[in-house]
Amino acid sequence: MKAFIFDLDGVITDSAEYHYLAWRALGEELSIPFDREFNETLKGVSRTESLERILRLGGREKDFSTEEKERLATKKNEHYVSLIKNITPDDVLPGIEAFLSELKQAGYKIGMASASKNALMVTRQLGLLDAFDHIVDAATVAQSKPHPEVFLKAAEALGVEPKACIGVEDAVAGVEAIHAAGMFAVGIGDPAVLTEANIVFTDTTGLTLDNVLTHI
Ligand code: BG6
Ligand code: MG
Repeated sequence: MKAFIFDLDGVITDSAEYHYLAWRALGEELSIPFDREFNETLKGVSRTESLERILRLGGREKDFSTEEKERLATKKNEHYVSLIKNITPDDVLPGIEAFLSELKQAGYKIGMASASKNALMVTRQLGLLDAFDHIVDAATVAQSKPHPEVFLKAAEALGVEPKACIGVEDAVAGVEAIHAAGMFAVGIGDPAVLTEANIVFTDTTGLTLDNVLTHI
């Protein structure tokens, strides 16, 4: 193994919670309430596709024109950006900074593969831009997770074969993308949800090189 490629939202920081709050507010406005269980199906999924899934849930997929859907997605994003604007280095999830340092010291390449167009902004606010050798975000990929493109691009930029990469994800779609890329999948979250991951840690405090490598 030569590289670790991290998802951002829900792995490096708890911004997955803010995505949930912003989508839930929009859903309520559209009379499409949903719970955390449905939200699991939105994690890792692009902004446009998330909106489509919410509209489908409410049987409203035909109710809006393309322009109206763009406005709805923009509204959600403005709400999300207002929620994340106060993110600071204190919001890096526990154990992540120590793990990133451990990886750097051990000579691993470190990448990020995020489905978010806000990834660079969030990473900058967390003070972690320099911690990653390369960041691939939604702005530069055509296909969103569970398609492997974002992970494959990150591996290529790091100069590492996919089979020598370990992907770290909190989303079902993300774990699928890691596997589709031919990488080893570390899940962060509920093992009953992330059933396809090769190994699951319930939270980021479990992330150490030893804890991961013993499972490979
Ligand atoms: C992913 C999140 O990282 O990014 C999703 O898990 C989110 O919940 C997606 O919808 C797109 O994010 P953004 O910031 O481009 O709307
Ligand atoms: Mg995520």
